[in-house]
Amino acid sequence: MTKTIQNLALGIFAASVLASCSNNGSNKNESADSTNTTTTTMKTGIQQADWGESDGKKVFLYTLTNKNGVQVKISNYGGTITSWIAPDNKGNKSSIVLGFNELKGYLAHPPYFGATVGRYGNRIADAKFTVDGKTYKLAANNGKNALHGGLKGFDKVVWDAAPLADNTPSLTLNYLSKDGEEGFPGNLKVSVKFTLSDDNELKIAYDAETDKATPVNLTNHSYFNLTGDVSNTILNNSIMIDADRYTPVDTSLIPTGELKSVKGTPFDFTTPHKIGERIDQVKGGDEKGGYDHNFVLNKKGTDLDKVAEVTDSISGRKMEVYTTQPGIQFYTGNFLDGSIKTDDGKPIMQHAALCLETQHFPDSPNKPAFPSTILKPGEKYHTETTYKISVMH
Ligand code: BGC
Repeated sequence: MTKTIQNLALGIFAASVLASCSNNGSNKNESADSTNTTTTTMKTGIQQADWGESDGKKVFLYTLTNKNGVQVKISNYGGTITSWIAPDNKGNKSSIVLGFNELKGYLAHPPYFGATVGRYGNRIADAKFTVDGKTYKLAANNGKNALHGGLKGFDKVVWDAAPLADNTPSLTLNYLSKDGEEGFPGNLKVSVKFTLSDDNELKIAYDAETDKATPVNLTNHSYFNLTGDVSNTILNNSIMIDADRYTPVDTSLIPTGELKSVKGTPFDFTTPHKIGERIDQVKGGDEKGGYDHNFVLNKKGTDLDKVAEVTDSISGRKMEVYTTQPGIQFYTGNFLDGSIKTDDGKPIMQHAALCLETQHFPDSPNKPAFPSTILKPGEKYHTETTYKISVMH
């Protein structure tokens, strides 16, 4: 059941359960079902639908719609972006991210499709780190290393959803990660706010506070296929990454600690290159070929700067990535092997999608020379990332 609830700005606590918005995505309230009412309030541009249950908590699917009819669906299960409908250069709409229509697709644990990843996105070597003289042991869920927050990271928990009274559709998700959860120290209060602008930008703002020093590295793990069809790989997309250096890795994808120049290597995307052009020269983990590397962004400081751009000649779509973060993991879906299928039964093959995970560098807690990821009591963690979709004619 889908609810469109309006007039929060006026403080009106009245809402009817409404049928889904019109096809052009303009959020018109076309029909009301008088047998159902609710006291939830939400602003225009967001719909809430019941989406099942996990850990005894209610799971919802929120649809954010902007004035152009671009629609992003986000669930409070895992803070997951499940769908992102955007027009191509002929006006045809399809989703540019991997995702499922039903919660059960996510309960089967796909590799972080669209998820909010934390408490520590990416890898921590040997699943351990030391803070304030104390060594903390994590679950080794990726060979001997810890990956993406552990066995039950932020991608697998149910967040509290707080709709906001802004002018553009936005959704804030809150989660309290308790002291000791997945082995990490400190009660970590996390909040992630998603905003869909009328310029077709999805802005993601991450905030956190802790009561004990802890590593924090939050990111989003959307898998993009700008063609809107997983039958096309991403190898013909072009990508630019504004990074003169990257962090080379060992065979278990842990950075060696070196910040290596991309010059003369297949990692040089300072000017746009087709992803498939040099991918055969790049080894990923477990001999699965392809890019799965952190790039050291050229940006200085913590302004929201453009750091990457992907273009697709089939659909004419373009995606720009802006971030306040110092790094970005460029992952070309190397471990996708066709075993997971889309809702319409298409196997999701290797290189069917790409991820651009804005982040601090992998294994920073064990690499004192890398920018620190330790959040201390009294400090405020705040990062922002924006993905902007447009079309080229
Ligand atoms: C990692 C990959 C991993 C993928 C899915 C990426 O962030 O770098 O190695 O396979 O996430 O877990």
